Amino acid sequence: MFYESGLERWFVTRHADVRACLRDRRLGRNFRHVGSEDEFDAAEPLDPRRQAFWDSERWSLLWLEPPEHTRIRKLVAAAFTPRSVDALRGPCAELAQERFPGERFELLRDFAQPYSIAVICRLLGVPTDRGRDLLDWSHAMVKMYELDTTEAQAEAATAAAAEFRDYVVSLIEQRRLEPRDDLVTRLVEARVDGERLSDAQIVSTIIVLLNAGHEATVNTLGNGVLALLRHREQWERLVEGEVDAAAAVEELIRWDPPLQLFERWVLEEGVEIAGQPVPRGAKVALLFGAANRDPRVFEDPDAFDVGRANASEHIGFGGGIHVCIGAPLARIELEAALRTLFERGPKLELADEPLRNRAFVIWGLDRVEVCSSSATPTRLPSSSARAPSSSSARPSTT
Ligand code: HEM
Repeated sequence: MFYESGLERWFVTRHADVRACLRDRRLGRNFRHVGSEDEFDAAEPLDPRRQAFWDSERWSLLWLEPPEHTRIRKLVAAAFTPRSVDALRGPCAELAQERFPGERFELLRDFAQPYSIAVICRLLGVPTDRGRDLLDWSHAMVKMYELDTTEAQAEAATAAAAEFRDYVVSLIEQRRLEPRDDLVTRLVEARVDGERLSDAQIVSTIIVLLNAGHEATVNTLGNGVLALLRHREQWERLVEGEVDAAAAVEELIRWDPPLQLFERWVLEEGVEIAGQPVPRGAKVALLFGAANRDPRVFEDPDAFDVGRANASEHIGFGGGIHVCIGAPLARIELEAALRTLFERGPKLELADEPLRNRAFVIWGLDRVEVCSSSATPTRLPSSSARAPSSSSARPSTT
């Protein structure tokens, strides 16, 4: 663990320490239920010009702390049940097959994004022709989670949040009149201990399900397929059936996680992390990428091994009360996508130098051109994907 004065944050790197922080109720994703902005070091007041964005976050599970978090999470879990997620196994396999683009394609634009949006549309019961809007809103809004968000990006995120809210409000009205077998209907109908979700809470929930789910899944596919194509022998293990796609997904998330860090505020006095006292009001960044390469947990941690026995001990889905509620869906979705890729394109290879995006927290690639060996690559890839510039490789406010 170390303190970075420029960023005014403590950085936690070891697997055991990150896990302990995730489970420590004296650390919270939000502090506004226990103190003012003056008491919390790096806190900035919420910009009133971005009200539509903050309204959309107001009831997001990622923004809440107990007791509100406990109440809303129970209601969302009542709608997003293991049974309803398991029912998506068949549709995920079909959607992945339908969207497999052919001999030469850009992995993210032509496959991962349309596939992931189609799965979310199926889950929510949204017509696929609105998929493009969902994608644009999601891309614009997640820019707010980076530290170096520009004014233009913040403005675009706010406009996207307002449009997204209006769309979800109209969906809620439609489902009240005409219930269907989809998540929006289940959220509208969810009841736990006599409580139900308000419209504002449903709007925030749907927005966080899309934004948290889509970007992480797409980036796992981008990072993971790149890792597989750069470690050809690991790809071959999948093609030959030596390792199951479900097992490989865990190593993909461990080795190059799509979410590099999440943050917590220290809500009480007397907290120690890794033996180091950390004062109330401090901000702590939990480095998932580092924890996933901790040699105390993973033998030869830098080796990429799709058959690694304990890969699922990764921190990729977090832990504690905010542990990823979409992890079962993510696993089903990624497994189906991966299986489609190596079954339909066993000879898949990089067709060009991949391009890394300029974000750090939501860690991924902008472009991964691939082709089956029957289509000739234009340029052979060199060493690794272009790294982000040092100014962009900065942690954020997730
Ligand atoms: C590979 C894909 C995914 C990864 C790596 C991932 C990772 C994470 C992590 C690390 C957290 C915890 C954040 C924290 O502790 O501060 C989280 C929370 C969450 N994830 Fe995921 N996620 C993925 C896919 C999904 C999907 C597919 C959905 C939904 C469709 C989803 C919905 C959520 C939600 C709603 C939360 C907030 C839970 C809460 O705060 O109680 N995620 N995710």
